[in-house]
Amino acid sequence: MKYLNVLIGSTVCLSLLTYCAVTKPAGILDPASPVPPTLAPAPVTALLQAHCAGCHHGTSPGGGLDLTRIVETPGGRLGFAHSLRGRQLSTYTTFATLYDRLTSTDPRRRMPPDSHLKGADLELLFLWVESALAALSPE
Ligand code: HEC
Repeated sequence: MKYLNVLIGSTVCLSLLTYCAVTKPAGILDPASPVPPTLAPAPVTALLQAHCAGCHHGTSPGGGLDLTRIVETPGGRLGFAHSLRGRQLSTYTTFATLYDRLTSTDPRRRMPPDSHLKGADLELLFLWVESALAALSPE
């Protein structure tokens, strides 16, 4: 029975991997493209693009976090390219970091650094991060 579960489990994982490989969001390697929509609804994507992507994309994005590129993360999920000392972090860690940086009371940690994000925009980003965190479990 255990083997059967493992077999079913691996088949599901393999199909998911194949699915993701085939349906890779367009423009993954194109830094000029908008944030791939698979991780965020369109209004959030637009906010990330307008207020964050300027510093969070390219060869050395702020804090190692590229908010325009989606990769497969160690937990087997898709997540933003986010690395620490060359190692890709889990999707949960990325969202926990986002939560911290959006809610921190320390102005040196708050993102975006110039604090232009206010009111409804900030609330939308916050709700997105909060619901993603609630749906994920630490890996
Ligand atoms: C003006 C440039 C700039 C903008 C705009 C900006 N960031 Fe950052 N961000 C940085 C830099 C530089 C760092 C690394 C230094 C630090 O940790 O504060 C960073 C770090 C972070 C981190 C921590 C990553 C880690 O693992 O340490 C998160 C999360 C983050 N930013 C999210 C955002 C979000 C979300 C937005 C938009 C709402 C945003 N940033 C906008 C420059 C920026």
